[in-house]
Amino acid sequence: MNTTPGIPRQTRRQFLRAAGLTAGAVLVPRRSAWAKSTGQFQDSVSGSASLRAHAEARGMLVGCAVDPQLLASNHAYNTLVADQCSILVAENAMKWGPLSPAPGKYDFREADALMDFAEKNGQKVRGHNLIWHDALPAWFPGPITKANARQAMVEHIQTEMRHFAGRIHSWDVVNEGIEPKDGRPDGLRKTPWLALAGDDYIELAYRTAREADPKALLTYNDYGIEYPDQEKKRAAVLALVQRMKADGVPLDAVGVQSHLDGDVPPPGRKLQNFVRELAKLDLQVFVTELDVNDGKIPGTIRDRDAAVAKVYRDYLTMMLAEPNVKAVLTWGITDGHSWLNDWEHIKRADGKPLRPLPFGPNMQPTAVFYAERDAIDSSHAT
Ligand code: G3I
Repeated sequence: MNTTPGIPRQTRRQFLRAAGLTAGAVLVPRRSAWAKSTGQFQDSVSGSASLRAHAEARGMLVGCAVDPQLLASNHAYNTLVADQCSILVAENAMKWGPLSPAPGKYDFREADALMDFAEKNGQKVRGHNLIWHDALPAWFPGPITKANARQAMVEHIQTEMRHFAGRIHSWDVVNEGIEPKDGRPDGLRKTPWLALAGDDYIELAYRTAREADPKALLTYNDYGIEYPDQEKKRAAVLALVQRMKADGVPLDAVGVQSHLDGDVPPPGRKLQNFVRELAKLDLQVFVTELDVNDGKIPGTIRDRDAAVAKVYRDYLTMMLAEPNVKAVLTWGITDGHSWLNDWEHIKRADGKPLRPLPFGPNMQPTAVFYAERDAIDSSHAT
């Protein structure tokens, strides 16, 4: 019903007539062929009803982190990812550790399988990630010393980016490089790369990356910058990217990881202002790793899904209202494969697995799927 101020409200009869329906018509969602055949009513969620189709209609990208081994072995997962996503990211397969069994040696088979899957399905791929303090090779630091660390960084970035040159939408060149708790005035995290390669290791990484694949968008990706009480880290990330832009260091986007909690008030104005400050720097924003931890939400699965869906709806509606927010990726797509259920530190009091993602462990859509799709439909159109 039209409630826009200044425009007369339509009666239900007028609305239905305008929609070419009889007054007695009851508006129901489209029934899929499967639903009709089985008599099970389920609002179709594939094809034109998918997250992918709704996102494309709004000129944005939607997707998730994937496990190439699961893509190869699980048909239901494979089909779901192909249908719902226009952009993918490797959860682990493109990190230095999983790629490099020995110094200077690379095994790209899993990462290549992901690229092949994505290109076969017309999907873009995010590269995650090049320089990080975690997921380092088992042999690290090995032969790497202060004397050769900068060259080691350059060679790694060049090797991986040139391997995929021209095929990657955006790279998380440095991941999680800010940690104010480490006490540095510049807010930099005290990572092995800071210690080995020096205070300007981030600048070195991005300048190397621009040369290695000029077609890729260069992204700085971090977490813990979403909530009102995370202002110190958010400000340090903003200061970092402001310095980079002022110094002419190539940077195109910021990834807001968005690992959210279901039992606290959602992010709001402070994050919105941060996104707008990034727009002033001509930076795109990607929601890169969205999931909602429902570990402390009491009640039935229905209650928990409803609470998680509300967080998705509120958060994404706010973020997608900002014109420079161009993509939303969840960190996984089905509750059956979420890092949150792999992490021994997170266990519910009732012992049940967490439900942080749009599809349940049976790969059926939950209330979270509809909340994500509704938020996409409300987004700015480009
Ligand atoms: O593949 C090995 C397996 O061979 C071995 O038997 C097993 C032993 O524990 O480890 C397996 O590797 C694990 C890998 O996930 C694949 O499952 C690593 O130990 C484990 O540390 C790794 O965890 C990943 C973590 O990043 C560290 O790389 C998570 O799956 C992944 O979801 C998580 O994702 C990060 C983002 O990259 C950055 N933002 C935060 C996000 C969540 O921590």
